[in-house]
Amino acid sequence: MDPNRIMSSSFPLLFLILLCISSTAVGEIRFSEIRSDDRPIIPFDEFGFTHRGQLELNVTKISLVGPNSDSSTLDLSKVGFFLCTRDACIHVLQQIEDAEITCTLLSDSIHKVFTFDRLPNPNTDSFNFLYPESNADQYTLVFANCLPQLKVSMKVRSAMYNLENGKSNSRDYLSAGKTILPRVYFLFFIVYFVLAAVWINILYKKRLTAFRIHFFMLAVVILKAFNLLCEAEDKSYIKRTGSAHGWDVLFYIFSFLKGITLFTLIVLIGTGWSILKPYLQDKEKKVLIIVIPLQVIANIAQVVIDETGPYGQDWMTWKQVFLLVDVVCCCAVLFPIVWSIKNLREAARTDGKAAVNLMKLTLFRHYYIVVICYIYFTRVVVYALETITSYKYLWTSVVAGELATLAFYVFTGYKFKPEAHNPYFVIDDEEEEAAAEQLKLEDEFEL
Ligand SMILES: *[C@@H]1O[C@H](CO)[C@@H](O)[C@H](O)[C@H]1NC(C)=O
Repeated sequence: MDPNRIMSSSFPLLFLILLCISSTAVGEIRFSEIRSDDRPIIPFDEFGFTHRGQLELNVTKISLVGPNSDSSTLDLSKVGFFLCTRDACIHVLQQIEDAEITCTLLSDSIHKVFTFDRLPNPNTDSFNFLYPESNADQYTLVFANCLPQLKVSMKVRSAMYNLENGKSNSRDYLSAGKTILPRVYFLFFIVYFVLAAVWINILYKKRLTAFRIHFFMLAVVILKAFNLLCEAEDKSYIKRTGSAHGWDVLFYIFSFLKGITLFTLIVLIGTGWSILKPYLQDKEKKVLIIVIPLQVIANIAQVVIDETGPYGQDWMTWKQVFLLVDVVCCCAVLFPIVWSIKNLREAARTDGKAAVNLMKLTLFRHYYIVVICYIYFTRVVVYALETITSYKYLWTSVVAGELATLAFYVFTGYKFKPEAHNPYFVIDDEEEEAAAEQLKLEDEFEL
């Protein structure tokens, strides 16, 4: 089979996948540069318009290099920008597949924004264009180049925004379903701030039985709070001005620290470090040695994905890298918990303190299940929600993810809080006997 044929038949599928995972739709002023690119379709950002949406395009340094040196013979109506909703994009690709049309720009399901035949003359190398979009929906800005062998280079500044209602006509650069996100993030920041205060209070009251891991937990909560604060600021600057004014950098820094400390915390708690034992085994250290660098890679991938957008040729690769690394990290953190469960089970059988070990076992089993639920919810369910909810309610998936994360933090803090005589778990009144044994065991630990 001719490689070009394979390329063109697999391209729509690729594009669809691309569209489906590019549902981030943050919206902001985006600078993109395209160099000698002959891809027939280049997706730019996705954005949810209200009925007062606008797209501002400023394109400079245009250079079209065709197979012939004479560019005046090119049919430039087949090169240009269009907007399409997700359904329309799928429909157009179907039409191309079925050979009903030869160029995406000829389809009537798309909203044509600007075709290059509208340039005053073929040698013009820049244009500015303002396109009002009054049909509220979620659109993808796409550049189409239906001329085979035409290589396009240009610098594109694209800004999509909605005009706010009221006299001010001020611009809202956040996508329709995300415009309340700054408030959502700020609210969660306050919640974590309160949590941190509560935890400090607990640490102070129980300072005699607090372990190092409890201070580590405090650090994780504080980093999470700062991360949310930066995200709120980042989004609110983007909302008002279209760019983050440096808050994105702070946000990435805190995301990075939060990611590393959270995964480390899950591993440390999973191993029972400082709660069950003061040291880490070699294989447990190895998990950390794997997870921490992977988190570094995941964070770099996240930055690249967020900052470039789908037009970049490597964007897909980074997206895949991120998914892969994330999956590996999520699996890796489960091992120490499984090892702890195994050790406790063996101990329960051999050392004659079955009741106590069984209770610890239950705690670690619960923790295992909760970690899995947390990972599953924040990766799969949130993603599914993001895909199925209408673009107008995209914030709901953010709220769902943050609530799941909050529940996980609260569960972890509650189950592993410093206890007066019992660092691992709460004992019911009926379990007095077991508690007595537990105390004995603890004495052994302290020796
Ligand atoms: C971009 O294009 C819009 C619409 O024509 C124009 O109002 C605006 O001034 C341009 N901005 C830049 C930076 O050229």
